[in-house]
Amino acid sequence: MCGICAYIGEKEAFPILKEGLKRIEYRGYDSAGIAVLEKEIKVNKDVGKIEEALKEELEGKIGIAHTRWATHGGVSKENAHPQFDCFNNIAIVHNGVIENVEELREKLRNHKIRSETDTELIAHLIEEELKTKLPMEAIRSALLELKGSYAFALLIKGEDKIYFAKKDSPLIVGIGKGEMFLGSDVAAFLKHTNDVIYLEDYDFGYISKDREAIFNALSGKKASRRAVKVSFSPEDVEKGEYEYFMLKEIEEQGYRITDMLNSNTKDLERAIEEFDRIHIIGAGTSYHAARMLKYLLEREKGIESDVMISSEYKFFKRPDKNTLVIAFSQSGETADTLKAVKFAKERNAKIGVITNIRGSSLDRISDYSVYLNAGLEVGVAATKTFLAQLVITYKLSKRIDGEEIKRIINYSLREENKQVVKKFSKEIANKEHVFYLGRGLNFPLAMEGSLKLKEITYIHSEAYPAGELKHGPISLIDEDSLAIFLVPKDETYEKTLSNIQEVRARGAKTILLSDVALDNSINIAKPKDPLYYPFAELIPLQLLAYYTARERGLDTDKPRNLAKSVTVE
Ligand code: F6R
Repeated sequence: MCGICAYIGEKEAFPILKEGLKRIEYRGYDSAGIAVLEKEIKVNKDVGKIEEALKEELEGKIGIAHTRWATHGGVSKENAHPQFDCFNNIAIVHNGVIENVEELREKLRNHKIRSETDTELIAHLIEEELKTKLPMEAIRSALLELKGSYAFALLIKGEDKIYFAKKDSPLIVGIGKGEMFLGSDVAAFLKHTNDVIYLEDYDFGYISKDREAIFNALSGKKASRRAVKVSFSPEDVEKGEYEYFMLKEIEEQGYRITDMLNSNTKDLERAIEEFDRIHIIGAGTSYHAARMLKYLLEREKGIESDVMISSEYKFFKRPDKNTLVIAFSQSGETADTLKAVKFAKERNAKIGVITNIRGSSLDRISDYSVYLNAGLEVGVAATKTFLAQLVITYKLSKRIDGEEIKRIINYSLREENKQVVKKFSKEIANKEHVFYLGRGLNFPLAMEGSLKLKEITYIHSEAYPAGELKHGPISLIDEDSLAIFLVPKDETYEKTLSNIQEVRARGAKTILLSDVALDNSINIAKPKDPLYYPFAELIPLQLLAYYTARERGLDTDKPRNLAKSVTVE
């Protein structure tokens, strides 16, 4: 999704902004731009990668920057941000989607509108308001006319400030010494400061080089917001010796597991015991964790719950004050999950959020937050945050043996075991369709393995409970097919072996993940407790996707059409 970075201070803004944009590059984008304010507002923007789009340096100590992921209007230089008013006196970078575009275009029909973007209309709207009002009043009036979502940073010629506003899209103030930042994500300025203010919906205001001023757009009154220190470190956003963040983050699991195991789940555990109804939601990888929690709560504690993909939630569920909604979201910003949670909250449900980002939008509306302690995840494909989610699902459902989990994780990361997985990736790289099959607790892992593969290799893959194959999907199996089976020596072992025979009998290739030395198998750790098999399967599945993508020559960190934090519905 789009990214915002803004700087005001004593240093040259352009290199800081360009570097900031690179840190949030992982969110995905198709064009980039920077505007710097000196006497005039100067701009540099284009389609393509940051390096190509932002070749020419601009001088000045106040600036705003953007990476755009096209929504309103195609990918073009004109549509790239910053966008301007009629006279280049106002420059704006914006994330989100303005919904009342037609109405605004009509109102602004006398203005010189140059792009197809919704963003440009905000600049013209403020231009109109500035004819009769001071900047803060003008911005507030404009905000009251906007429908939709926005996080923006804005320059006005002649003002030594950066104005901002936020609704339904994240925006964070970074507080430095004699310098201030704005970012759609802390990574945008993490190199410079860990002191941040997470802005709330309807917040608007400005930053100058040594202060912030925040007001509420609805009431017009000053808003008091607390600064917090984020625990992420600049190394989290550095690749170090690694070619790709994805591999770095897979390997990090070896030492991050200790912090993950230490996360505090007590309040949510208690809440789970107390509520009549439990709804568990998530999107993508987080949905797989949600399924795992449902399985484990029922198996281990006899607690029933419903699990649902976030974007489907409000069509089916009617939460009330006796409902606990547990939302998984590593970013804490996923629009689908946020909307579902807000819907539940309006109906008086209590909310438990399991997230990696303290202070994120979901964390702020949560009644019981649990933190993943995974360190900032940069690779688009979720890896270490899924391990952390898995740890939490176990902690919420049973007493866990942390040492045993650490042993399993580190076994998977041994060089010789990684090399075996790498060898198998060559068998996948030239396939068009792959099936992931597993039963019981292994099924959410099969789903996760399949999602990882399709996301970063663009190979079509599907996951099924192995027993479901014969009810339809088996008609797709022929000599060209490849099926990856999760066959640990648990209660599902014998039945899964029969399913493997069914597939092999139709000439398909199989790759097995097992702690038993089976034909064409990747050896996984043998846990003391069979319930821990998902931990043994996870890293081989992640590596299988990673090495297959590399085998196909693909960039694993920026898969096409995907973004790290999906802030549109
Ligand atoms: C998969 C992936 C996505 C996310 C999904 C939810 O590798 O990254 O499927 O899991 O967009 O994101 P969060 O967890 O931030 O809510």
